Amino acid sequence: MIIRKIAVIGAGLMGHGITQAVAQTIKCDVYMCDVAPELLDKGLKQIKNNLDRLLEKKEISPAEIKQVLSRIHPVIDLREAVVDADLIIEAVTENKEVKAALITKVDKIAKPTALIVSNTSSVRISELALATRRPERFAGMHFFNPPQSMKLVEVIRGSKTSEDTIDIIVEVAKMMGKEPIIVNKDTAGFIVNRILILALNEAAFLVEEGIASPEDIDKAIKLGLNWPMGPLALLDYIGEDTALAISEVLKQELGAKYSPSPILEKMVKKGHLGRKTGKGFYDWKTKP
Ligand code: 3HC
Repeated sequence: MIIRKIAVIGAGLMGHGITQAVAQTIKCDVYMCDVAPELLDKGLKQIKNNLDRLLEKKEISPAEIKQVLSRIHPVIDLREAVVDADLIIEAVTENKEVKAALITKVDKIAKPTALIVSNTSSVRISELALATRRPERFAGMHFFNPPQSMKLVEVIRGSKTSEDTIDIIVEVAKMMGKEPIIVNKDTAGFIVNRILILALNEAAFLVEEGIASPEDIDKAIKLGLNWPMGPLALLDYIGEDTALAISEVLKQELGAKYSPSPILEKMVKKGHLGRKTGKGFYDWKTKP
């Protein structure tokens, strides 16, 4: 399949990183769509910052940055983003209803041959596929944060996803320099989040029970398990609201072992959503 245009819906934490990763690797137009100009501006600013950092590290040239940015089209109009796109990557907020409503709209606009994928972190793909009239051309394509750097992509097969669709998504992930793995049986949370959410939640319970400080819990896991960052710092990066939303889906689908720690619920109520709000387990206004 020749890919001339990709649409990424959502310019947030995942959407802008996916847009950047596409524009750097697949030499096609990439339309980044969100509902408000300030959200698009923020996404584009983050992409520019990331590219500037690559320039400082001499991993990209000024001419390449110009080319990458020329491939990115930030748009508010969903129709403009989706029409004629060969692949549409849904990367909106981690909420089943919001995702399903968006996917239905996209399905109506997209050309019949287009593939639609969701970057959901938790929701079963067969469930989201119900929102389309093309379940055979719908799959999961789960990127990891930050998507412009992380190698893994989980490619998830819904119950009606065709073999062709899986092959193309695997190919696209490889074109992006990623390492795709195929999740054959559609399960909430797929592989990584089924394991990660238990670990993150347990770290939150350790704080709740006063077992150790967030700094020492993170130090223990960084040095004891060689994680690049501790689970509480990672929670602050993912966002407590997103982690809670994932936990709730997994609890509903897979049982009580995924019940979120009460401290996570309290933090979300207080608006302590980690790095994006400046406060989570850490104070990001003072943290370097
Ligand atoms: N989420 C978002 N951004 C992250 C991040 C994360 N988990 N980890 C690092 N970053 C950001 C850093 O903040 C920095 O950006 P900034 O300058 O704007 O602050 C940028 O990535 C580069 O980070 P480093 O300075 O650490 O650069 P390195 O090149 O040395 O390493 C890295 C980059 C490989 C991404 C390393 O930081 C790392 O391994 N981090 C952990 C990543 C991780 O565990 N991701 C999994 C998240 S779980 C997930 O995505 C599932 C989802 O469904 C919830």
